[in-house]
Amino acid sequence: MLNIELFLIYLLVSILFIVAIRGLSRPNTALLSNRLGMTGMLLAIISTMFVLPEQNHILILIAIFAGALIGIMSAIKVKITALPQMVAVFNGLGGLSSTLVAFAQMKNMQTQYLDISLSVAIGTIAFMGSMIAYLKLQGNFAKILRKLPFHNVFNLALFIIMIFSWGNFLVYSTIDSLFYLMCFALLWSVAVTMPVGGADMPIVVSVLNACSGFAATAVGFSVSNVALIITGAIVGASGTILTFIMTKAINRSLLEVLFYNQTKDEVLKDIKDKTVRSASPEDAAFILENSSKIIIVPGFGMAASEAQFALKNMAFVLKNKYGASVKFAIHPVAGRMPGHMNVLLAEAGIDYEDVFEMDDINPEFRTADVAYVIGANDITNPAAKTLKTSPLYGMPVLDVYKAKTVFFVKRTLGTGYSKTDNPLFFADNTMMIFGDAKKVTENIVKDLEQG
Ligand code: TAP
Repeated sequence: MLNIELFLIYLLVSILFIVAIRGLSRPNTALLSNRLGMTGMLLAIISTMFVLPEQNHILILIAIFAGALIGIMSAIKVKITALPQMVAVFNGLGGLSSTLVAFAQMKNMQTQYLDISLSVAIGTIAFMGSMIAYLKLQGNFAKILRKLPFHNVFNLALFIIMIFSWGNFLVYSTIDSLFYLMCFALLWSVAVTMPVGGADMPIVVSVLNACSGFAATAVGFSVSNVALIITGAIVGASGTILTFIMTKAINRSLLEVLFYNQTKDEVLKDIKDKTVRSASPEDAAFILENSSKIIIVPGFGMAASEAQFALKNMAFVLKNKYGASVKFAIHPVAGRMPGHMNVLLAEAGIDYEDVFEMDDINPEFRTADVAYVIGANDITNPAAKTLKTSPLYGMPVLDVYKAKTVFFVKRTLGTGYSKTDNPLFFADNTMMIFGDAKKVTENIVKDLEQG
């Protein structure tokens, strides 16, 4: 294959990826976009095989087969609630491949050592950081491992050593010096990711995703592969943008997430002596039967208990048997990853038409009979508007308190991710339905069906 042909195919591959990413932002174009992305990837692999020596084809086919098998198995086996972990692992593998290709490039005499060193350093950070993120998201690290004494000083010292070892490689350009650079990048990424709290991990995964993209771009320069350069840059840029969207939505800076990650327990002084009103699923079913406008607010607890299918049934009965209007309200940081709730509601087959973003649904709470808050907490907490010391301060929230009746379905009066008490639990129009989100909703559905 001629260079110009290969270049044009790579350009087409990059266009397919860009169009695919654009289409993924809307549920009704997401499936087609996914297929376009897959076509682009297939085209990239096949065309690359044509330019590689024939004796390598068997090795490449074995690698493709093994990779495809692992990919298919993970897609089938991994639960949708474990998607953040899967994303972390796949990011990490991208970083590892860039590191390995960069090491292999050391044999090439015309190589650019700057590209190689950047691929190794950034690729290793992406790999090791993602592995730690994966283990933490799985809950495999005891809390005691979270923080070393003076960890920020230690991190800074390691960072400086890593920069020195980078300079050392650029001066001596030996395989040994590249190996040292890799070791220090590895240590630094462990030191930075280890103290980050489990719930901040999605933000760190997004940073590491950007790193794996930039590592691929650097390695793309070193092997002169235009598809790698462009797609790596797309991944790097989108990871960076997503990081900023997420940190903005939770009202914290990236520096706070990475280096000052201690969330304090914020106790609202005057609410501890107050009492709450609780309701049983039967009580809730009775009120729901007699409501004409219901807004459902899902949060992390809905994902944890996998209550989305029960919710779909509840919405179905309320609409079809009782003629109610049922809408779903999605906060941008509900759950633990961007689009977490959208993915789960789509998985259960809930109509996109019934799902509304925060700015569109907020004015509607005023006229709602019931806000059914299921496994959500922080995203409804009015302390975000009033409590300056709260980690939530400044984050826009869903105005559920404006509904006539607010149901909170959760197991306890405990706090959410931000560790901030929620004064809404004690409001006059709130009823707590204590229990697992899925079981409570299933019981309500049973009652609604019989009622
Ligand atoms: P949270 O504020 O974390 O509250 C979730 C609530 O679910 C908890 O209070 C918990 O109360 C309840 N829960 C847990 N398991 C449950 C179960 N099986 N059944 C019923 N309830 C259950 O969640 P949220 O309102 O979705 O807010 C998300 C938070 O995560 C925000 O603070 C956001 O800033 C943060 N965050 C989000 C992201 C992204 S991108 N989405 C990334 C990083 C951080 P009980 O224990 O009492 O049941």
